[in-house]
Amino acid sequence: MTQHHETAENNGNADHEGTKEGLSRRQFLGLAGLGALTLGLGGGGGFALGRHAGDGIDSDVMKKTYEFRGEHQQGIITPAQQQMHTAAFDLTTTNRDTLIELLQDWTLAAERLTHGELVKDYTTTLTKAPADTGESMGLGPAGLTITFGVGKTLFIDDEGRDRFGLGDKLPVALRDGIPPMAAEKLDPKRGGGDLIIQACSEDPMVNLHALHNLTRIAFGRATMRWTQLGYGRTSSTSKSQETPRNLFGFKDGTSNIKAEDSQSELDKHLWIQAGDDQGSWAAGGSYMCVRKIKMMMEVWDELVLAEQEQIIGRDKIHGAPLSGGEEFTNPDFAKEGQQGNPTVGSSGLAIAPDSHVAMMNPNNNSGRRMLRRGYNYLEGVDYLGRLDAGLFFIAYVRNPAEGFIPVLAKMKSDQLTEYLQHLASGVYLMFPGVKETDTYVGQKLFE
Ligand code: HEM
Repeated sequence: MTQHHETAENNGNADHEGTKEGLSRRQFLGLAGLGALTLGLGGGGGFALGRHAGDGIDSDVMKKTYEFRGEHQQGIITPAQQQMHTAAFDLTTTNRDTLIELLQDWTLAAERLTHGELVKDYTTTLTKAPADTGESMGLGPAGLTITFGVGKTLFIDDEGRDRFGLGDKLPVALRDGIPPMAAEKLDPKRGGGDLIIQACSEDPMVNLHALHNLTRIAFGRATMRWTQLGYGRTSSTSKSQETPRNLFGFKDGTSNIKAEDSQSELDKHLWIQAGDDQGSWAAGGSYMCVRKIKMMMEVWDELVLAEQEQIIGRDKIHGAPLSGGEEFTNPDFAKEGQQGNPTVGSSGLAIAPDSHVAMMNPNNNSGRRMLRRGYNYLEGVDYLGRLDAGLFFIAYVRNPAEGFIPVLAKMKSDQLTEYLQHLASGVYLMFPGVKETDTYVGQKLFE
């Protein structure tokens, strides 16, 4: 890391703030003498983290950027990236202006990060802590999206007291939350939070760098309440994407809201509309419904294939519905099963009515649709030596009471539930997009 010091001295201005600052991540990489700067981050958890700044950015995936500003925030309908890092924060300030300043600072930083810049221009001043922590130098923007939202406790505290003069704007969906469900053992410390940030990209270090710096920026104003790493997307949010697999080995995300769906379909199921109950400040936003679900992998692994397929309602290799066809063929829930086929249960139907797909499919749920955007997680072993792993389930909907909660409640009778335990739960309103003229995310809430 001594190379860092050489740069400062070569520039001849090591101790003068302002004059030799202003190096973006890209400019920083372009400087001579940095080829040997090794970030020394290799070897963690199977991810390819070890990189050299001088290597430059070597793949299209790592160069990818998504527009930060627009009608909607990025990270929702954006093609789901491979890696996720989400964190919720509790405010330590009680001052409304300080809260607004935090959102302003986060917005400035996030816009730079998603463009592949450092969070602030790099400071080559030896007598000051660098403005950016630096662990993503050498990596590209990697398709980073940063999505901001709010939880119930931003509006009112546990005793129902207004915290920042926003109490009368509390959306009903946040007030009501997600009611108790079957097969859950929720840890309240792993849910809730005043604010939430979802960072997704193609590289775990790019995500970590973003959240690390956003947390640092929040110092003295907000502290991290919970955080979750996710690897391997478990959904497709664009028809251009291959369907990935979940930790039970099944294709997941075949039937999902996708970016190519019509505007009227997206407006109906995904985006909050101006006339909805929370008021126009939230129009263009979406509710993020979160469930951390442990998957009993060792038990599942020993089920015979026919049973696994019957539980899901699709075949394991191709993801086709058990009623026939290919992956994207619509399931036929009325089709009789073939006699003697071991995937056919007591109902005699090709797709068991209590299979996961039959339980969740919009045709059996008054047309309700959601945009699923979850990730696998793995957090070591549990007290019995089993994998502590599962799905960090995320669904985006226009209105949880309509599009999510009634469907989730049906999992009570879903065969899949026997192999799951829900560990955490949360619902957040993700702000509308940051418009060209806006100075910060969520601005309309405060106007
Ligand atoms: C660890 C837990 C879960 C696993 C392993 C799982 C797995 C799957 C699989 C393999 C599919 C079929 C492929 C597809 O169409 O994407 C699917 C579909 C689906 N899942 Fe899940 N899922 C889980 C939890 C949930 C939860 C909590 C919900 C929301 C209440 C949900 C909602 C859906 C929906 C809406 C579909 C599409 C059904 C259709 O349109 O046919 N899943 N899931």
